[in-house]
Amino acid sequence: MVTTTRRFAIFWLFSLVSLFLLRPAAAQQPAPDPWWKHAVIYEIYPRSFQDSNGDGLGDLNGITSRLDYLHDLGIDAIWITPLYPSPQVDFGYDVSDYVSVDPAYGTLADFDRLVSEAKKRNIRIIMDFVINHTSDKHAWFLESRSSRTNPKRDWYIWRDGKAPGQPPNNWLSLFGHSAWQFDSSTNQYYYHFFYVQQPDLNWRNPQVRQAMYNVLRFWLDRGVSGFRLDAVTTLFEDPGLHDDPILPGKNAYGDPNIQHKYTDNLPQIHEVLREMRKVVDSYPGNPVLISEADQPNISELAKMYGAHNDEVQLPMDFQVADVNRLSAPQFRKLLDEVVNNPAGGQPHYFFSNHDQVRQWDRYGDGVHNDQIAKLMAALLLTTRATPQLYYGEEIGMRTTIPERKEDVQDPIGILGWPQEKGRDGERTPMQWDASKNAGFSAAAKTWLPVPPSAAQYNVAAEQKDPHSILNFYKLLLALRRSNAALRDGGYAALNRDDASVLSFLRKNPGTGGSVLVALNMSASPQTVSFDLASFGLHEKSAIPILTAPENAAAAVSLSGITIPPFGVFIAAVR
Ligand code: GLC
Repeated sequence: MVTTTRRFAIFWLFSLVSLFLLRPAAAQQPAPDPWWKHAVIYEIYPRSFQDSNGDGLGDLNGITSRLDYLHDLGIDAIWITPLYPSPQVDFGYDVSDYVSVDPAYGTLADFDRLVSEAKKRNIRIIMDFVINHTSDKHAWFLESRSSRTNPKRDWYIWRDGKAPGQPPNNWLSLFGHSAWQFDSSTNQYYYHFFYVQQPDLNWRNPQVRQAMYNVLRFWLDRGVSGFRLDAVTTLFEDPGLHDDPILPGKNAYGDPNIQHKYTDNLPQIHEVLREMRKVVDSYPGNPVLISEADQPNISELAKMYGAHNDEVQLPMDFQVADVNRLSAPQFRKLLDEVVNNPAGGQPHYFFSNHDQVRQWDRYGDGVHNDQIAKLMAALLLTTRATPQLYYGEEIGMRTTIPERKEDVQDPIGILGWPQEKGRDGERTPMQWDASKNAGFSAAAKTWLPVPPSAAQYNVAAEQKDPHSILNFYKLLLALRRSNAALRDGGYAALNRDDASVLSFLRKNPGTGGSVLVALNMSASPQTVSFDLASFGLHEKSAIPILTAPENAAAAVSLSGITIPPFGVFIAAVR
């Protein structure tokens, strides 16, 4: 018989041994995922979200006043396009001071309040960091242009002309005409990939790098959770100034088409991205870097993650964003490629932003646009990725292109009219309700007009309608948050030869249910069947959890599911 004392001793011995044995196992637990891996990011164009002081322009206090709406919608972070002081030639993408707030949008104190109010609602703030260029009114540039010997001369790209009156070479600005601007005060040209008022910084200069990394620190110290890096691929140019190859045809500005061979995507950008990553990694809380990089193919996109996952955590996937038509095979191919990207990085999708025609118009067929808006929402929010929304897409906002040249605000629309009408159309004020200026502003005139469609497509009206686009987004966002398979599951394409229906499985990482998604990208009903045995799933039926239009069936047989035109079918498979 074992005495009580001996039993006690054995118990302790056993406990100690198990503690010892369990310890290393516990240490091997994978680190929890960084927040951005499960986040939904919402882009806000501050001029157009909410005006709090009646001047017809949105502002920071306006954003703060709408945080409850964003919380209720179910997003995790907001990316605010540039809010820094700026002459607003490119509406903030021409920064004249990186460490302050444009007075039209508020003050640094307003910014701090926005960060802290957002934090109370579990919403993070992501800054837009414009790194390729500054405004020509930035103090750095004013110094740089003041003389050839100024210590900041080399902070920008200054070169002699080829001959009197001739720029150094044939490089063209993306926004039209030569990328070189002559400056008579010092008789040299400066380089600008974008507008004349946006001189390119010289990233080969170590002082420029340090100054810009200090900007990152300034905002990280104020509590931001990351940066969207603007126009990263154009940071470097060929120091040999070789002419870019000319392509056939002309662009909207009347210039010859050109291949930006010597001004875009130079390998040195990766060194800068690694350095920036080190800066953000030195802060707690996993700050994120998001890159705006319109990469031509998956291998270029994958490079943005870095050879050792040491560059950008979330490179925006422009390939997916630019499919521009409802094509199941094309989406299937691109999703497959990025999900299996060689770097193993997290995919980052979006369909609309402040530079793109809104998805409601781009994918809509003119008849079923609202249903297609739900289809695109489901595609964005059910795949394995960090999704990004653009303000207003959740209510089906459409693009409202100016009808007359004199109404255009965006300079590329003025220069390129009528072929290029600019980006005003996707930047119109957020539509909150059916009151004056859609509840955006009390001003007599807003900076861009509120379109007539706001009477029907607005937050207040859609909140009341259970079948609205807004309520569908909310359901999707809530499902994505609560369902383990949608949150953490793998992604596998199904029915790879189907030309009309994009189907995939989000396989539960544990033992719980998986999720089947089928999106009918055609205008006719489609009947699909699934065999999930190769995934270890032997069920014969699935339980619809979110469908559009509504499917009230308690369960549907996997051997024949009919999906209405542009229908969304999301179902649980046990
Ligand atoms: C990025 C911005 C765009 C801006 C350009 C120049 O592409 O998204 O709005 O005009 O950079 O800064």
